[in-house]
Amino acid sequence: MSFNDIKKDNEYKCLIDGEWVFSKTKKTININSPTDNSLIGKIQALDKSEIDNIFEIAKKSQISWYETPVKKRSEILNKVADLILENKELISNLLVKEVTKNKSLAINEIERTVYLIKATAKEGLNLKEEKIKADKFYKSKKKAFIKRIPHGVVLGISPFNYPINLIWSKIAPALISGNSIVIKPSTQGTISVIYTLELFLQAGIPKGVINLITCNTKEIGDYLIKNKNIDMIAFTGSTSIGKRISNLVMKPLLMELGGKDSAIILEDTDLDLAVRECVNGCFSYSGQRCTAIKRIILINSIGYEFMQKFTSEVNKLTFGNPEENNFITPLINQEAVKNIELLVNNAIKNQATKLTNGSKINNLMTPIILDHVNKKCRIYYEEQFGPVAVIIRANNEQEAIDIVNDSDYGLEACIFTKNKKRAFEIAKKLNVGTVQINGKSERSPDNFPFTCLKDSGLGTQGIKYSIEAMTRIKSNVLNQ
Ligand code: G3H
Repeated sequence: MSFNDIKKDNEYKCLIDGEWVFSKTKKTININSPTDNSLIGKIQALDKSEIDNIFEIAKKSQISWYETPVKKRSEILNKVADLILENKELISNLLVKEVTKNKSLAINEIERTVYLIKATAKEGLNLKEEKIKADKFYKSKKKAFIKRIPHGVVLGISPFNYPINLIWSKIAPALISGNSIVIKPSTQGTISVIYTLELFLQAGIPKGVINLITCNTKEIGDYLIKNKNIDMIAFTGSTSIGKRISNLVMKPLLMELGGKDSAIILEDTDLDLAVRECVNGCFSYSGQRCTAIKRIILINSIGYEFMQKFTSEVNKLTFGNPEENNFITPLINQEAVKNIELLVNNAIKNQATKLTNGSKINNLMTPIILDHVNKKCRIYYEEQFGPVAVIIRANNEQEAIDIVNDSDYGLEACIFTKNKKRAFEIAKKLNVGTVQINGKSERSPDNFPFTCLKDSGLGTQGIKYSIEAMTRIKSNVLNQ
């Protein structure tokens, strides 16, 4: 497999109309390792006119791509999935460097994505036309022929934490249903994505159907979003940027934003299970997941026992460089570290108790447990995107439910109890997209619906649900 075309020396090119090209601006953006700040590579900084050109190319290419039989579109997606799998060593090593994901998580992300692409390529074959007759009131022969058709040009924007999964979970449903797509991956993570795009060319994706934007979003992000050739936006990232996008455009939007997922630990819980899931839920990938458990709500009567076991397990977590497959690895940047420090200091000032030392070397923060977090603490409401477990005490079940719902976010919640009937009763009262019973919060499996409520986003993702979101209903009505 050759990757010769994607870069010269350390400078990666952009994919525009099926060609790897340098920007005419001659400006680049550095991508440094979050672990030791060494330069990994440079990417292009496109300007406004290059971006406009990309969307025009995407608009034109969409027409012939939609005319390509869905079986052929599915074949190309299956082919790229196989190529990504063949190259998982190379791409996972890049993820380790670029976003400090440990090797096991990086491999998991790639294998999961391969599965997602294949499942989407299969599901897309089921998009059939539906025929319905007018209801009896109309006494007519009217028939509607209803079809799901692509929006046109989809803009896919993805964050740093799952560079491969969160971009391909936009690319695959967009393309199988006949859209073209323009992608703008998070700057940190772009190099890993570039390798998969080259594989896509080798799999036979026609030119112009997928194009890559790399640019300085602080300067031209708003301009980019407002391009008139965009027909739909699929975005995963922060709530503040999500709100900004939805204020700028009136177009179909699919958004996965921040979260403050809570886990309720009831008194009849299997403690070992709850502790295991909470440790993973809070600290996997150093807590940099929108679906991380960001509040553990402990019923007082079980508090002492849970905290003993939880603290002891957290103290066993390994931390250090991702190359050594440590559990806790450096955060993505200094800004993230500073934000965590501010939230933790504010909590301590407001009577929360810090149970671990929580040391820091550059971007690496060791796990922190904050007990007795209360409403005066910013971290009670605000999302921590790092290795901090927030423990909130509740006197009873109702109080725990109220705490879960006392949030601007509405992604997921977890309930730990041996009583499944009770869990389903509580689940009805939680104002979130998904409730996990006896398991940590997570978006996967990718074929499950993942609904984002309140400030956590818009719409539902998941293999078949993403295809629905990336298509619209068109009906042709035959009157005679
Ligand atoms: O950060 C957001 C991701 O969508 C989380 O995915 O819950 O499957 O790890 P996950």
